[in-house]
Amino acid sequence: MIALPTLRSFARRSLTALTIACLPLITGGWLSGHQSTFDTKGPVAKAQLDVFYVTLWVTGILFVLVASVLAYATLKFKARKGDEHAAVPPQGHGNPLIELGLIAASVGALIIIAIPTLHNIWYTYDVPEAEKATAYEVTATGYQWWFKFEYPHEEIAADTPLVVANELVIPAGRAVRVNLRTFDVIHSFWVPKLAGKVDMIPNRGNHLWLKADEPGYFWGQCAEYCGESHAVMRFRVIALNPADFAKWIAHQKENSKAVTTSDPKPVFASYTPIHNAPNLPGYSDKFDQHPFEAWKQQQEPYASASDEALIQKGHEIFTAKGCVTCHVIRGGHAGGAPFAPDLTHVGARSTIAGGLLENTPENLHRWITDPNGVKPGNKMYHGVSGMLGYMARDENDNWTPHIQVDDTEARALVSYLNSLK
Ligand code: CUA
Repeated sequence: MIALPTLRSFARRSLTALTIACLPLITGGWLSGHQSTFDTKGPVAKAQLDVFYVTLWVTGILFVLVASVLAYATLKFKARKGDEHAAVPPQGHGNPLIELGLIAASVGALIIIAIPTLHNIWYTYDVPEAEKATAYEVTATGYQWWFKFEYPHEEIAADTPLVVANELVIPAGRAVRVNLRTFDVIHSFWVPKLAGKVDMIPNRGNHLWLKADEPGYFWGQCAEYCGESHAVMRFRVIALNPADFAKWIAHQKENSKAVTTSDPKPVFASYTPIHNAPNLPGYSDKFDQHPFEAWKQQQEPYASASDEALIQKGHEIFTAKGCVTCHVIRGGHAGGAPFAPDLTHVGARSTIAGGLLENTPENLHRWITDPNGVKPGNKMYHGVSGMLGYMARDENDNWTPHIQVDDTEARALVSYLNSLK
């Protein structure tokens, strides 16, 4: 038998735990986080939130009504002291009026929910007719575990659209139609503050549309289980005003910054590498609190001119280590494969490793030296489609190192990649 004090202490602890668990909800932490669906910033997400509220109110009212009737009946008709030998009260077999009334009320409740639901299913399905002429089109493709974004109407050469990775920049205040594709398995494209999730399905064209009311920085996330690193398959959407957007597009179309110096004297980038960190480093306060400002700062040209020798070294290592086999850096390295992120302007992104880490030298160093520790199962580590990664299988089918990057080489690569603004 359980002692009463044990039960009491259990009850007290449970209550404390419940209070702590509910605290973020009470203080609004869950309602305004980076991926909150309550803090909508565009008409599509707003329409979806409206449906949620209608459903919440209708079911909430139903709950209160049913719970009240249940409580009333339980309290009024419960057996009382002295009722042990009382006669059984008269038994009813249903009241047609009440039953029909309840059916009618249920149908009414469903109609109240169905009208905005159907209206918004049509509204969110595709860009509204009135906005079609001005809508902007992009194509998002899911990969294990990152996102490629293509701009079909922004060509860098004949029939070659502009391609970027993990950070989708869009014009604010304008409908954007996103074609959804996948390279491998099913992924799901989700920017909680702008639009609900839609799947990216193999061999099937899918799409959604969204609009950001104002310029801003929005968190995105793959929302369909797609393998080992699904939970860290992230991306960002950055909405810019028309002038800034045009400027961004024009700059992205340019080739990467030329690496000029040939002075081989090694210089060491000044930061302390993170090794074997048990947990991923968090975001800096600056980035966490003001990501849009942090993103804008990231666009500023690379200031560290003293790194030129190191950048040159990194440029060489990028070829020597075989990074060039998979990654395109337009103007810096030809080649590349269709399944690795384009790195032409990687230094200007606010995140790396599929939107997982803030783009700092420390994080980039860690990502380059320990990719599997950062994003388990990733293709840079294991290789893909016959291309070798950091590891290769030997004749006994065991994984053996294929590419190895030491600290000195990593510093050079970090400087080079950081300089690609
Ligand atoms: Cu891609 Cu989950």
